Amino acid sequence: MGYHKPVLLNESIEGLNIRPDGVYVDLTFGGGGHSRGILPGLGDGRLFAFDQDADAAAEAEKIRDARFVFTRSNFLFFRNFLRYYNINLVDGILADLGVSSHHIDDPGRGFSFNAPGQPDMRMNRNSSVTALEIINSYSAEKLTGIFREYGEISNAGKVARTIAGARETRPFSDIPGFIDAIASCMPARQENKYLAKIFQALRIEVNNELAVLRQMLTQVPLALKEGGRLVVISYHSLEDRIVKNFMRTGKPEGDIEKDFYGNPLAPLKPVIRKAIVPGAEEINDNKRARSARLRVAERN
Ligand SMILES: C[S@@+](CC[C@H](N)C(=O)[O-])C[C@H]1O[C@@H](n2cnc3c(N)ncnc32)[C@H](O)[C@@H]1O
Repeated sequence: MGYHKPVLLNESIEGLNIRPDGVYVDLTFGGGGHSRGILPGLGDGRLFAFDQDADAAAEAEKIRDARFVFTRSNFLFFRNFLRYYNINLVDGILADLGVSSHHIDDPGRGFSFNAPGQPDMRMNRNSSVTALEIINSYSAEKLTGIFREYGEISNAGKVARTIAGARETRPFSDIPGFIDAIASCMPARQENKYLAKIFQALRIEVNNELAVLRQMLTQVPLALKEGGRLVVISYHSLEDRIVKNFMRTGKPEGDIEKDFYGNPLAPLKPVIRKAIVPGAEEINDNKRARSARLRVAERN
C-alpha cells in the first residue's frame, strides 16, 4: 500500500500558477505527492515543505533536490522557518488538510474505527492528548460539545452520556471496546457514517485542527507576494467553511472589514467562485478523494 495518493493533483498545480523562479510552500507534505508535482515546474525556484508527522519527515528524505527544503513542524510556524531561510514573501502556498492515507491505514496510529488498538489520532506523536485520554477523561458536557460542533452529530448528548457511563465500570482501552459501548447510539444501517463522524470529531479535538487552520490562514496574506496564490484542499464542511470565508473576507468567520469609506477590505480574492471537486474517475480510483474541495485565492 502506498503512503498516500495525492488528491486533485493537476488542479492544485494549476491553481498555484507556478513560476519557474518562484518560491513555493507545501504546508502538508504527507507522502509528498503535491511537492513532487510542484518541483518539475521550478527552474531555479524553491520549494519549502512542512509536516508535523515523523513518518512524513521520513518520506521527505527520499526527495533529493537542492531546491527542496523540508521542515518537521506544525504549519502554524511556517513563517518563522521561512524567515530563518531569509524568505519574507512567497509566490504560492498549498495546504492539503487533514490526515494522510498512511495515518488511516496504519492501525498503530488509532485513526480508523476498524483498527484493533488504542484510539490515539495524534498527527504529531510528541503532542500530549490522545483520543483515548479524551474519551476517558472529558466530562459528558465537553464531549457533547465536541461531538456536536466537530462531528455535527444529532444525538451528541446521548453518546456523550453513554461514554461517561460506560467508563465508570472500566476505562476504555481500545477501539473495539469503545465502539461496543456506543453501539446503542448508532442509527440502524448507518453505523459506519456515524462512527466516521465520531472519529472525525475526536481527531479534530486531538489535533486542535480548526483553531490551527484559522491561525495558519491569518498568516497567509503576510507571506504571499502580490498576485501570489493560496490553494487549499479540505475534506469536511467545517474546514471548507473557514477556508471559503477566509478567501472572501480575510477573516475565518467571514465578517467583512471595511475601510473608512465603507469599501470592503480583503487581502485575498477567490480565483474561482466555486470549489473544485474530483471527477468520477478520480473518486473511483481513490475513494478518499470523494469529500475533497479545492479552493484557490490570489493575494491582492
Ligand atoms: C492529506 S495529507 C497531505 C498529503 C500530501 N499532499 C500528499 O500528496 O502526499 C495531510 C498531511 O498534513 C499533515 N498536517 C495536518 N495538519 C498539520 C499541521 N497543523 N501542521 C503540519 N502538518 C500537518 C498531516 O500530518 C498529513 O501528513
